[in-house]
Amino acid sequence: MSVVIRSTGVHIPERRILNEELASMVDTTDEWIRSHTGIGARHIAADGSQTSDLAADAARSALKKAGIEPRELDFIVVATATPDYLGFPSTACIVQDKIGAHGCGAFDVTAGCTGFIYALDVASSMLEAKKGRHALVIGAETLTRVTDWTDRSSCVLFGDGAGAAVLSRIDEGGRGVLKCMLGADGGSHRDLVLVQQPRTKTFERPEPLVPKIFMDGKNVYNFAVKSITVLMERIMHASAYRLEDFAWIVPHQANARIVQAAAKRVGVPEERFFMNIEEYANTSAASIPIALDEMSGKGLLKTGDLIMLIGFGAGLTYGASVIRW
Ligand code: ACO
Repeated sequence: MSVVIRSTGVHIPERRILNEELASMVDTTDEWIRSHTGIGARHIAADGSQTSDLAADAARSALKKAGIEPRELDFIVVATATPDYLGFPSTACIVQDKIGAHGCGAFDVTAGCTGFIYALDVASSMLEAKKGRHALVIGAETLTRVTDWTDRSSCVLFGDGAGAAVLSRIDEGGRGVLKCMLGADGGSHRDLVLVQQPRTKTFERPEPLVPKIFMDGKNVYNFAVKSITVLMERIMHASAYRLEDFAWIVPHQANARIVQAAAKRVGVPEERFFMNIEEYANTSAASIPIALDEMSGKGLLKTGDLIMLIGFGAGLTYGASVIRW
C-alpha cells in the first residue's frame, strides 16, 4: 500500500507586479531585489478574490487531471497563513463548498511556509490509516493582503497563489510519500516572523489595527539555511538514502540565496534544487505545490524519481517529505 500524489494543480493570479513597479512605491531597485533574493516578479490576487477562490481553482485543476470527482474526496486540508476568516470558518470548509465536495471532512493547518509539508504529512498519515481513499491537500495564500507595503525589506518578498495535490491510497507498495519529518521551535524564535494581528481591539480601544507581516530578515535567513541543511542530514541519518539518490530537492521558495547557501553547505549541486522564485516570489504554503505542478508540467518528474520537499517558516517551523514519484 502507498499514498501517492496523483495530480497537482495551481492558481496563479493574473496581475503580475515586476520589481520596477515596486521601485516606484518604496526605496528599492530591480537590481537590489534580484541580487538579494532572486525575485523578479510576483502575482497579486484580484480585488474581491479570497484565499479560498485561489485554492478552489487550484483544486479543480488537480481533480480534473486526477479524473476524480469532488464527491469522491474523503477530506480536504488547506495549509494557509492567510485564511478567508480570522479563526473560523476554516478556509477548507469554504473550498469544500466552492468545489462541490459536500460532506467530506475539511480543516486548515497553520504552519507558516512549512504548511504544505505539515498538511501532506497529516493527509498521507490519515490515508495510510485507512481513513479514506482520496484527499485534497492545498497550499493557498493571499500574503500580499497582510504585506506591509511601507517596509522595503519585506514587501519585495511576497506574492499570492495556490497549489493543490490530489492524494490517493493505492495497493502498490514502495511509492508516494515515504517519509515525513516535522519540527518547530516555538520558543525563542517565534517572534522572528509573524503577522501582527488586530487583537488589540478591546472594549476600551475599539480601533482595529491592520494585520501586517513583521520579519527579522537576517535571523530568518540564518534559520532557513540551517533548517535545510539539518533536515537533509536528518533524513539521511534516519534512512538508507544518500543525497545522490534524490533526483530533485524542492525547497520552499523564500530566497534564492538561502537555497544557494544551503546547497553549498550540504555539497549538493545547486541545479538539483528546483527554483521558480524569480516568477512568483515567496507564496508561503503555496510555494511547494506550485513548484511541483510546474515540474510535473515540464516533465521534470519521472515515475520512480526520489524527491525531497523541504519547508521552513513562521513558528518557527520546519519539515521535509521524501516522495517516490
Ligand atoms: N531595497 C533596497 N535596499 C534594501 C531593501 C530593498 N528592498 N531591503 C533592505 N535594504 C537595505 C537595508 O536597509 C540595509 O541597508 P543599510 O545597510 O543601509 O542598513 C541593506 O539593504 C542590507 O540589509 P540586510 O537586511 O542586511 O539585507 P540582506 O542581505 O540580509 O537581505 C532579506 C534581506 C532579503 C530580507 C534577507 O534577510 C532574507 O531573505 N531573509 C529571509 C526572509 C524569508 O525567507 N522569509 C520567509 C519566511 S516568512 C514566512 O514563513 C511567512
